[in-house]
Amino acid sequence: MSIISDDNDFQEQSLQKKNPVVKAEVIECDKSFENCIRPKTFDSYIGQSALKDTLKITIEAARRREKPLDHLLFYGPPGLGKTTLAGVIAEEMGVDIKITSAPALERPRDIIGILMSLEGGEILFIDEIHRLNKVAEEILYPAMEDFYLDMTTGKSQTVKTLRVPLPKFTLIGATTKAGELSGPLRDRFGIIHRLEFYTDEELAKVIKRTAGILDIEIDEKGALAIARRSRGTPRIANRLVKRVSDYAIVKHDGKITEDVANKSLDILKIDEFGLDTTDRSLLRLIIEKYDGGPVGIETIAAAIGEDVRTIEDVCEPFLLQAGLLQRTPRGRKVSPATYRHLGIESKSPTSQQRLF
Ligand code: ADE
Repeated sequence: MSIISDDNDFQEQSLQKKNPVVKAEVIECDKSFENCIRPKTFDSYIGQSALKDTLKITIEAARRREKPLDHLLFYGPPGLGKTTLAGVIAEEMGVDIKITSAPALERPRDIIGILMSLEGGEILFIDEIHRLNKVAEEILYPAMEDFYLDMTTGKSQTVKTLRVPLPKFTLIGATTKAGELSGPLRDRFGIIHRLEFYTDEELAKVIKRTAGILDIEIDEKGALAIARRSRGTPRIANRLVKRVSDYAIVKHDGKITEDVANKSLDILKIDEFGLDTTDRSLLRLIIEKYDGGPVGIETIAAAIGEDVRTIEDVCEPFLLQAGLLQRTPRGRKVSPATYRHLGIESKSPTSQQRLF
């Protein structure tokens, strides 16, 4: 993928593989760009307003009861602010947060170590929670439900189970694939919320806020031009504003206007829908080689040289939402809007009729 890819998640995972618990402060140092623009409170967090309203009530009720928050599950496409929101909740609750991700919790001792390091009221954030293995999940069940760990000592006949109490904590899980979460794990979350794609207007606000923090000059139309090509995703918007700012400094006077933004994004080959070269080759492949589909995801991945997970997690959510791709039991297919967007005339009317 080009610069709008989600490689950030993979870097984060490899960092966490070496060190399963990454305290929020460590992430601050390693990821200074993301961290310095990350909103810390509800007031500075733009978008997701319905979700924010519900969360404010939940937090206030927990505060008045003087109890930790119920366990929370956030799901939705990557880059919409699940980790950021967990940080905001911790800040608003006035508690610490420990951040990790399921692939870093390979061995039982990884999850046990984190649970035993928690302090009362603290938040444990597990990203990509759908990737938790069965053993880790089973350790988590009593920890989430009744705040204890069942530890076994000794071997075969002399095996003993030890019940270790844990402080009351809140688990915040995040996933891009809620459907892949096991039923028993999902049932243990008291609150489940979906994060929505952002509107262009919301993204323009995110962009202006980021530009302000980074001392980048931008006008309203410039912010909207970047927003329109950011696929409804603040993480992409924040990356693009930096790239466009580079272009504005080198080729103009540093200020981002509509014209500067459009020229820069054209050079980056990000089209007016926010699609990059990978998205377009995926859609073109389905049209040109498979007559509009359906075609299996593995075939698509092999043909365009991307892995299945990147296509499913990074490319597809927006293409599906934009109506440019459809998922069917027999594979992926495009829609008439895809032909129009790519400026390709449909050779076979039957392939389009099959959509309806
Ligand atoms: N940066 C990334 N996500 C954001 C959001 N929701 N609000 C403000 N700034 C952001």
